[in-house]
Amino acid sequence: MKYLDKIKTASLKQDALILAIESSCDETAASVVKGGREILSSVIMSSMTEHIPFGGVVPEIASRMHTTAISLTVEKAVSDAGITLGDLDAIAVTYGSGLIGALLVGVSYAKALAYSLGIPLVPVNHVRGHVSAGYLTDKELTPPFICLLASGGHTAIIDVKDYYTYDVLGGTLDDAAGEAFDKVARVLGLQYPGVPNVERLAKGGENNIELPAMLKGKKGYDFSYSGLKTAVINYVHSKEQKGEEYSKEDLACSFQSSALDILVKKALIAVKERGYKTLSVGGGVSANGYLREKLQKECGKKGVKLVLPERKLCTDNASMIGAEGFLQYLNKNYADLTLNANAFIEITATK
Ligand SMILES: Nc1ncnc2c1ncn2[C@@H]1O[C@H](COP(=O)(O)OP(=O)(O)OP(=O)(O)O)[C@@H](O)[C@H]1O
Ligand SMILES: [Mg+2]
Repeated sequence: MKYLDKIKTASLKQDALILAIESSCDETAASVVKGGREILSSVIMSSMTEHIPFGGVVPEIASRMHTTAISLTVEKAVSDAGITLGDLDAIAVTYGSGLIGALLVGVSYAKALAYSLGIPLVPVNHVRGHVSAGYLTDKELTPPFICLLASGGHTAIIDVKDYYTYDVLGGTLDDAAGEAFDKVARVLGLQYPGVPNVERLAKGGENNIELPAMLKGKKGYDFSYSGLKTAVINYVHSKEQKGEEYSKEDLACSFQSSALDILVKKALIAVKERGYKTLSVGGGVSANGYLREKLQKECGKKGVKLVLPERKLCTDNASMIGAEGFLQYLNKNYADLTLNANAFIEITATK
């Protein structure tokens, strides 16, 4: 039987074993997820140390490292799960957004594996994966809920109406939160990744430097990080030009509060406005300790249930791709072998 005929007739299982592959940036990751909620294995190989001397991820280096790591990563994920390839029900793979060369490695590998095993190939939108990390964190989590998404490329407040329908209430008009942290880190003399490094510096400082309020006087769920980032850069340059001393710790602390308090505030307004009870969080920025504490405190005060994935599920990983892949598998959102990587897709896209 031909591959496409075979997968069309494959029966859907509520406890399907999905092998997920993620290679959109510098992590080569593979995971086996059962029934969209249970992580049987998770392997992440990062090429981060190769990029640090360049101050950010170098696409060509990331692609080459994926090529070297992908087979080992997948083999380990399957063996750690205590299964064999023949036990798998589907292969889920990130097809966008991300670095095109990096995505292509995962997509090509997943296509070949799905074809050779005769099982469905499920394309996954990376950002929807960040949202679905919530389903692995709280096995009872069911829509509707609000998701605060804060990552290296996205900052958005999403009304997750059901498993498939997202209403993006607002997003960043310029830089993403993580991107702003990474740029501010550089001007403070810190290495990539900016979020944990700025957080470390901020611990020794106080929030005593006035920085411009974001979109002052404007209601709604949009964000803008470019003014805040520029204010920090100008502050540093002006002090340096005048030969004046300043506290990098205080600047890091003030920037961190200005960048993150607003996320918590707007997310909780959205929960209230929609009449929901739950706030879920996703994306690499939500691994930041200050943000996590603030979310816990404010949700506690307002009686909002917080679904806060553990740090390794906030940053890029393949388990979240398996969780989202399971939802798309249930919808029979399969790809054929013409599936291509796509560098830019909308938060809502599934194909
Ligand atoms: N251990 C960590 N703790 C806190 N933040 C981190 C950590 N590691 C990376 N980050 C931050 O997370 C951000 C990247 O998040 P993520 O990996 O989710 O984004 P991305 O995959 O590059 O972009 P997107 O998901 O929007 O396509 C960076 O800004 C980085 O500084
Ligand atoms: Mg990401």
